[in-house]
Amino acid sequence: MALPPWPTRRTSLAPVPLLGLLSGAGFLLSGCEGAQSALDPAGFNAREILFTSWILFIGGAVIFLFVMALAVWAVLAKGDRFPGARAWVIGGGILFPVVTLTALLLHEFALARRLVTVAETPALTIEVTGYMWWWDVRYRRPGAGPEEPALRSANELVIPTGRPVELLVGAADVIHSFWVPSLAGKMDMIPGHVNRLALLAEKPGLYRGQCAEYCGAQHALMAFHVRVLEPEEFDAWLAARNRPVTRPEDPVLARGYDAFFTQGCQSCHAVRGTPAVSTLGPDLSDMGARAGLAAGSFENNVGTLAGWIASAQHLKPGNRMPSFNVMDGETLRALAAWLESLK
Ligand code: CUA
Repeated sequence: MALPPWPTRRTSLAPVPLLGLLSGAGFLLSGCEGAQSALDPAGFNAREILFTSWILFIGGAVIFLFVMALAVWAVLAKGDRFPGARAWVIGGGILFPVVTLTALLLHEFALARRLVTVAETPALTIEVTGYMWWWDVRYRRPGAGPEEPALRSANELVIPTGRPVELLVGAADVIHSFWVPSLAGKMDMIPGHVNRLALLAEKPGLYRGQCAEYCGAQHALMAFHVRVLEPEEFDAWLAARNRPVTRPEDPVLARGYDAFFTQGCQSCHAVRGTPAVSTLGPDLSDMGARAGLAAGSFENNVGTLAGWIASAQHLKPGNRMPSFNVMDGETLRALAAWLESLK
């Protein structure tokens, strides 16, 4: 068998480090895109925050390099005198920091003001409450006061582009933190206190959010999605939320509907228009339309949902949902299929 020839010796090394550097940079930067990235903004807040981050990063890098160059110069300077030492100390040690830090402070004040006033007259108010380990979501109907019953959902927010949205965030048990890096900065969710986050989405898409404050064993599995729709699509979506859910005609789905009540799911969950009205657990009225399952822990489909119902404690130990592993396989699949049919 003929062996392959030895590789010939490279005569020039120049392109190799360059290619390596470029592909390395490409590899690193490819992590900056996607549904959960503060470096790939899809909203006003995230864009403003990113711009400020670049000012700080580039400014800090330039100052660091300049100071390092000065240090080298000082060490290598001939004699025991550093030329113009007094001017450098006064200029670089006092004047420059005072001027730059004051400018940065004013910039931050203006930025904070822009971020707060983005939704002075919000088109939509959503209350989000953090639980261990899921998110309760209530849309206040336009023009409705806080006392009127809201449209309820869980683990996914739907908002329109181009319309200012006000989020009122709180927590039911421990401190959580609401963070959708592609759309806005973090906001703490504190029990007994309501924090306000105003945001303006600019690009339609599906974005991922994550609890950003350690809140117990399943903190890492406390995620959610924000679905940003064009305004007309959003209006149609909101109008469709008024349709009550009824017992389906399809025999498999009807079996799933019945199983929901015989298994006692209504003790914790609500489904709009049915006798299930409990607010202990996530509202399931549009379960099938959500991107994620169990607060963004898994992709949402009939298979994962059936697995979740049967093994919730195995998949996310310590969460409040018991494993319902007493159903026969067909009933379990019918239950999952019915829940996934809710859009
Ligand atoms: Cu909720 Cu971490």
